Amino acid sequence: MEKQVLIKDLAEMKQFAQSVSRFVVPGFVLCLSGDLGAGKTTFTQFLGDAMGIKDAINSPTFTLMKIYDHQLPLYHIDAYRLEGVGSDAQLEEYIYGDGVCVIEWYQYIYHSIPNDCLVIDIEWVSKTERLLRLKGSGMYASILKNLGD
Ligand SMILES: Nc1ncnc2c1ncn2[C@@H]1O[C@H](COP(=O)(O)OP(=O)(O)OP(=O)(O)O)[C@@H](O)[C@H]1O
Ligand SMILES: [Mg+2]
Repeated sequence: MEKQVLIKDLAEMKQFAQSVSRFVVPGFVLCLSGDLGAGKTTFTQFLGDAMGIKDAINSPTFTLMKIYDHQLPLYHIDAYRLEGVGSDAQLEEYIYGDGVCVIEWYQYIYHSIPNDCLVIDIEWVSKTERLLRLKGSGMYASILKNLGD
């Protein structure tokens, strides 16, 4: 299942993240791609807020991963520094764990990504607009039907 959603500004991005947050369950894997500054971390911050996480969520580029403990924990991975690596066994513990896992630059650890996941490719359109290309199979395909309408 694939779908495109045009986001016109930050407020719409926030609303979109809120709608995704309604579907998160233990083991939920969300893969984000898009150029530098596309909005991957911004989306993750809105998602964390919507999940009720009170800590400030910031970019884990230098730490690879940050864990936000919560009723449903959030594992925020940024694989930017793993370009060319292909997979990461330590991160897989979290990717296949019981929290919600959000992975920026997931393509760099493609072999560690499960077949079923929600993929959101964020394309910069203008200063405030973003085109989201959504993809999902299995459970994620049914979630996609309910997103962005
Ligand atoms: N509709 C929008 N959605 C998301 N971000 C937006 C939007 N409009 C403007 N922005 C701005 O674009 C920037 C996106 O930066 P962000 O750090 O989220 O990008 P990123 O994809 O995580 O980049 P990186 O690859 O460096 O981690 C922020 O400054 C944000 O405020
Ligand atoms: Mg980022």
